Amino acid sequence: MKGGYSLTQLGLHWLVAFMVPAQFLTGGSIGRTHHAIHMGMTPSYWDVVQHYLHNYTGIAIGLLMGIRLVLRVLQPPETGAPGSWTERVAKALHHAFYAAIIGQAGMGFVASYVWFGIAPYHVIGSRIILAMVALHLAATAWHTLVARDETIDRMVFPRRKWSAENL
Ligand code: HEM
Ligand code: HEM
Repeated sequence: MKGGYSLTQLGLHWLVAFMVPAQFLTGGSIGRTHHAIHMGMTPSYWDVVQHYLHNYTGIAIGLLMGIRLVLRVLQPPETGAPGSWTERVAKALHHAFYAAIIGQAGMGFVASYVWFGIAPYHVIGSRIILAMVALHLAATAWHTLVARDETIDRMVFPRRKWSAENL
């Protein structure tokens, strides 16, 4: 297996990987903020801060994932054993990640600034993303602990260095 990702692609992968969990920590604050306002009460200061963090971090995640998608089209990673079923499932999950994360950020944006009616789909989207992340982590653990292959290295060492050492 050779030719993973460029340094920019790696940086963006790990940046998004650290930002997505923040969305799960801050998401609940939005319901609490809206509930307080509907009850005629002042929402807690910390909930309002988290609401802002959720919106702006979510928008940034959507934009970063969009940049990743463009980079992926311009610099597609080389994958090993093309055609094997595991390779096809992994590829499908990776493609689905781009759609799910960008779609989730888009739905969140619409819920906040255009039409709140879409919010239940945003909540469902968050559960789907949670399942996808769990699957992604399980696959990474399998590659590292059972197959003991170089998959994790592909996401740690940039393309040029990796290729040079493995040609
Ligand atoms: C929410 C968090 C995450 C998201 C959205 C995410 C998304 C993705 C996507 C879309 C790819 C495919 C890249 C491409 O081919 O263009 C990928 C690859 C990869 N991810 Fe993640 N990831 C996340 C977290 C993690 C974490 C925590 C780990 C490690 C424990 C990890 C390890 C990897 C590895 C090793 C690959 C390379 C697979 C390969 O090319 O063979 N990811 N990730
Ligand atoms: C990929 C990025 C995002 C993820 C993973 C995410 C995740 C979440 C989660 C986990 C919740 C709480 C769901 C629950 O109540 O159990 C939530 C709620 C919410 N998020 Fe996001 N979010 C993202 C982006 C955004 C963006 C960009 C915005 C707005 C600009 C936004 C606006 C909202 C709103 C309005 C709610 C409240 C929905 C409701 O209570 O019915 N989200 N989000």
